[in-house]
Amino acid sequence: MTGETKFEKLLEPYHIGKVQTRNRMVKTAAGMFYQKDEYVSDVQKGFFEALAKGGVGLLCVDSPTIDYPQSLMFPIQFRIDDDKYIKGFSELTGVIHKHGCPAFLQLYHCGAWMKKETYGLPPVSASNISISSDVYGPTSEHASKDVPRPLTITEIEDLVDKFASATVRAQKAGFDGVEINAGSNHLLAAFLSPLWNKRQDAYGGSLENRARFLLAIIQEIRKRVGRDFPICALINGVEVGGGGRGMSLAEGQELARMLEAAGVDAIHIRFYWYGYDISVLTPEIVFYPEPHIPLKDFPKEPDWSHKGAGANMSVAAEIKKAVSIPVIAGGRMDPELGEEALRQGRVDLVGFCRRLMADPELPNKVISGKMDDIVPCLGCLQCMSGVFTPVRCRVNAAMGREYEYTFKEAAKKKKVLVAGGGPAGMEAARVAALRGHEVSLYDKETELGGLMNTVGQLRGVEFEDQPTLIDYFSRQITKLGVKINLGKEVTPSLVAEIKPDVVILATGGVPALPDIPGIKGSNVVAGPDRYYSPGDYLKLLGKRVVIIGGAIQGCELAEVLVRQGKQVTIVNTAAEMGEGMAREIRARLLWWLTQKGVAMMPGVRYEAITDKGLTITTGAGKRQTIEADTVVISLPLAANKDLLAKLEGNVPEVYAIGDGAEPGLMMDAINDGARIAHAI
Ligand SMILES: Cc1cc2nc3c(=O)[nH]c(=O)nc-3n(C[C@H](O)[C@H](O)[C@H](O)COP(=O)(O)O)c2cc1C
Ligand code: SF4
Repeated sequence: MTGETKFEKLLEPYHIGKVQTRNRMVKTAAGMFYQKDEYVSDVQKGFFEALAKGGVGLLCVDSPTIDYPQSLMFPIQFRIDDDKYIKGFSELTGVIHKHGCPAFLQLYHCGAWMKKETYGLPPVSASNISISSDVYGPTSEHASKDVPRPLTITEIEDLVDKFASATVRAQKAGFDGVEINAGSNHLLAAFLSPLWNKRQDAYGGSLENRARFLLAIIQEIRKRVGRDFPICALINGVEVGGGGRGMSLAEGQELARMLEAAGVDAIHIRFYWYGYDISVLTPEIVFYPEPHIPLKDFPKEPDWSHKGAGANMSVAAEIKKAVSIPVIAGGRMDPELGEEALRQGRVDLVGFCRRLMADPELPNKVISGKMDDIVPCLGCLQCMSGVFTPVRCRVNAAMGREYEYTFKEAAKKKKVLVAGGGPAGMEAARVAALRGHEVSLYDKETELGGLMNTVGQLRGVEFEDQPTLIDYFSRQITKLGVKINLGKEVTPSLVAEIKPDVVILATGGVPALPDIPGIKGSNVVAGPDRYYSPGDYLKLLGKRVVIIGGAIQGCELAEVLVRQGKQVTIVNTAAEMGEGMAREIRARLLWWLTQKGVAMMPGVRYEAITDKGLTITTGAGKRQTIEADTVVISLPLAANKDLLAKLEGNVPEVYAIGDGAEPGLMMDAINDGARIAHAI
């Protein structure tokens, strides 16, 4: 079946007001921290141009500040509160429109998220409830702890003007529409929600009162930009959890009707779940490693049939019943789920964010039926882990470097030998081959993937399907004509025989062994690596296991061992557990490990390993022995430059990349592979 027939609905052009979308895929907004200062940056232009070129139907640019400095959620944020910023936005819409893609600009006010330390001002909100308070429930660790000041009526009226003025600037800059973000838990959502809004004036109490601020903004925008400039409103269709004190679905429907009557052209729906330390934007992670509560007790409004993917669809479908304007919803959607939701009439447009970050060409690949060429987004949430630092994608090294990594033909075609078929080596081979080099790849193992294989086999594929990434790389490098030689180790004599112009060493790191008396004991086992089958590895371990190392390696191994029924303790010299893990994933895994009775001991000193177990000195200075049958060393790998030393001076160019050069995360390895292959 071709892309056109299988994804008939998804690929159909649509419209929001008078704006035509190329298809029904919408790139939803994402704060990327790509600006260096208050102006639109070239990095932003590169990022959005790649998306526009990739064929998405409509894209939404993330939110500049409309109210400086009161709405500064991050220390460095681009701005649209003055006409001097219009030029930068015009350049941005120019590069997007060049590829025939319409663009909306998302506008929001961060409200209670602002930190006093950022600009010396307390945050503002509907009422004096902190984003980190018990009312809200546990939230992201970088949320403001400050108690906000309720806005005065004059300030509300002033903000109505600021939203409308920002929209006029967006229109002047060539945007095709705006999305007013009144969802999640920012300022406008705080007014809409009965849980946040405790006001006694005309802006609190009934839904009519709580919606007054948002509706005034919509009406003022409409007055200033005319009937034909589309306005989309992003709202929480329902707020679940919070003891039933949030906005109900019936209120969500009523709000949608009010917005339509006020002149809104489309509604973007998400649900909001109070009281859980989950990212409300990515509901699938509530299933990792296990849900907090039994599935039968989950709120009924979201659709949990795909483990969080498409959870917003059922809520959107209910909102759609209340209005006649287009309804958008996303959330871990893929083309198949999107097509299904459209055919079922649950939504009119489907939101995609992370899958387009992993592969901005996804829409074009769907159109041409090249589904196998889509770079898989692993759902790993590394992209949500930085705190106000440029967002990077684990699998797409070019994201945020689009103008730098142009994949241009190499000036001189070289014979490139890549040693190692892990993520760094495969990405290096892929990019080098794309640039026209003659590439061969060797790995001493009989399959590609390196450590990803072990991780995939041990952890399974339900969360972070790493084997799909191996398959993707394998297909791509095969198609590109890379000569793959498995079961063959690269040695100086092999290199002398092949005579490459460039050798890229991506052979991985070596296990790091801490200097502890007893480390060579028979009860000590290294962390799982590619040389074990998972079954064989698990057989090496007794019932009671102490894991030395509480970074990502140790914590993820603990998850596997708990699932295997082991009794686990994790010890770590660092003060924090879970270093290297994506923020949300780390929070959930550490919570789960605690629930499962895993003792986690950060800040310890290792003293000795004996046949009784591991002796440590705790952070409080207490010496104690943790009894265990097996002590597992699960520390970050160490660099391995042996082969590099042997080859240097004997080949024209030789580079070590990935863990072998500097141990890091999979994202670092892929980045390193791309970096070197773009440089040769
Ligand atoms: C790095 C990142 C930043 C985001 N920032 C915003 C934002 O500023 N405004 C917004 O409405 N949604 C934001 N989102 C949420 C996305 O638009 C989307 O709703 C969410 O990622 C779920 O969709 P997906 O599974 O297709 O990624 C962000 C998502 C990511 C990954
Ligand atoms: S970082 Fe992970 S979750 Fe985010 S877009 Fe990339 S692969 Fe997907």
